[in-house]
Amino acid sequence: MQTGQAGAPAARLCGKEHVRTIPALSGPMTNMLGAGQPGGTAMKRALAGAAALAAAGAAAAWWWYEAAPYPYSHRWMLNRQVPFLTNRRIDALLAARPGERILEIGCGTGLQTLNVAAQVGEQGRLDIVDVQQQMLDHVMEQAKEREMTQVVPSLADATALPFEDNSFDAAYIITALGEIPDSAATVRELGRVLKPGGRLVVGECFERHFVSYVTLLHYANDAGLAPTVTLGPPAAYLAQFRAR
Ligand SMILES: C[S@@+](CC[C@H](N)C(=O)[O-])C[C@H]1O[C@@H](n2cnc3c(N)ncnc32)[C@H](O)[C@@H]1O
Repeated sequence: MQTGQAGAPAARLCGKEHVRTIPALSGPMTNMLGAGQPGGTAMKRALAGAAALAAAGAAAAWWWYEAAPYPYSHRWMLNRQVPFLTNRRIDALLAARPGERILEIGCGTGLQTLNVAAQVGEQGRLDIVDVQQQMLDHVMEQAKEREMTQVVPSLADATALPFEDNSFDAAYIITALGEIPDSAATVRELGRVLKPGGRLVVGECFERHFVSYVTLLHYANDAGLAPTVTLGPPAAYLAQFRAR
């Protein structure tokens, strides 16, 4: 009994009853933070919700603007042809012929590579460029299995291609242009390495790095490339250009 009476004041010091007796903590600020008020709990929840929303917004902004190349660890997602950007449609615009030298930018795991390599044949050459060695190794393994010696890899950035001017009969870049931070410079490089009259095929489908056809037209014009044919809807298009 004695102990209980002695301990009572100490317990009260930590209780709400004591806090209410301090004038400095009884004003509107205290109420906003919810010290003991039913409305304060709602305010705390609102603040936590706003913080969660801000964090989610920051993560979404990072994801949308983040410019790293497509991760090799996600390569299984590159194994399927995108609707409207099928190899059959790409073939129709690229019109690869035996003996031609063709350039592929951003080959990834080679969804288009072996198909085009077969069309240029052993007398031709298909140069594949990617900024990730793992992607190039992946494709070269398949090319070697099929004894396709016409496939030649180059580890390079598409904005600074390691090729002479007027080197290629045709070039293509499928779902890679928007991923390259300087898409305009990439198109300029393609215009530089294509022979006069050379064909460029660009395929883009709507995702976070999408380059619209209208934007592409501006890049192409600056690069000396004239538009010829487009296939597919605006959100998943293939466009052919000719080097002037
Ligand atoms: C989404 S994948 C597309 C691969 C393939 N074209 C397809 O349709 O499946 C984009 C590829 O572009 C490559 N890439 C990204 N930035 C590049 C750059 N600056 N220069 C060359 N390749 C790049 C990536 O490494 C990746 O392999």
